[in-house]
Amino acid sequence: MSSLLLLNLPKYRKVVRLADGTRALLRPLLPEDRTKLLGMFAGATEEDVMYLKDDVRDRDVVASWIDNLDYSRVLPIVACVDERLVGQATLHFHFGPTRHIGRVRIFLATEYRRRGLGTKMLEEITELGKRFGLQQLLAEIVVEQTQVVKAFQKLGFTLEAHYRDYFMTPDGMTHDMAILRLPLPVSRRDEF
Ligand SMILES: CC(C)(COP(=O)(O)OP(=O)(O)OC[C@H]1O[C@@H](n2cnc3c(N)ncnc32)[C@H](O)[C@@H]1OP(=O)(O)O)[C@@H](O)C(=O)NCCC(=O)NCCS
Repeated sequence: MSSLLLLNLPKYRKVVRLADGTRALLRPLLPEDRTKLLGMFAGATEEDVMYLKDDVRDRDVVASWIDNLDYSRVLPIVACVDERLVGQATLHFHFGPTRHIGRVRIFLATEYRRRGLGTKMLEEITELGKRFGLQQLLAEIVVEQTQVVKAFQKLGFTLEAHYRDYFMTPDGMTHDMAILRLPLPVSRRDEF
């Protein structure tokens, strides 16, 4: 992993414009975002919590992400609109034999969904993955979450594996998991 890129990350900024004209600033999550991040995840719906890996409405879980910020392990990019956090996409790095692979997760505040922000954030995470020299990105999505699968497919992710009964929801039901994969072309630029 490029240490120069990591060093420059705090400077990384990108403004994206949604189809309705809304402008969102994308930047790395910072320690001072604690209250705003807790606020954003507190608005997660029952369905979100059911299908996400972590209980994002548990303040201790979200606080631990801020307390243990380490961009070389997990790089969280947040979307800010008018000083409010409205989305977070994370790029999870691997080590050893799978160090060329990144895993992607994303969450948006409900009122910012279906406005193209997810697509913009995933495009940006993909661009960052390329700059870090990753060769492929993976996303794990419960198969019933067809809208989420579609959002990733729109970016070029394709179904790599279908894992039966992989994911158990709090009610004890098991669900199939789709492993989606996006190969990345090699490109190396140590700056933003
Ligand atoms: C998944 C998520 C990030 C998508 O972001 P988004 O900003 O709503 O998606 P976009 O507006 O960019 O839409 C991208 C595509 O996804 C699909 N899509 C997204 N939401 C959809 C919905 N509710 N119904 C049908 N299709 C949907 C569409 O194909 C859409 O493309 P289109 O607008 O050209 O039809 C967002 O819904 C979310 O945060 N969900 C909750 C958290 C979650 O499930 N995260 C995934 C765990 S990795």
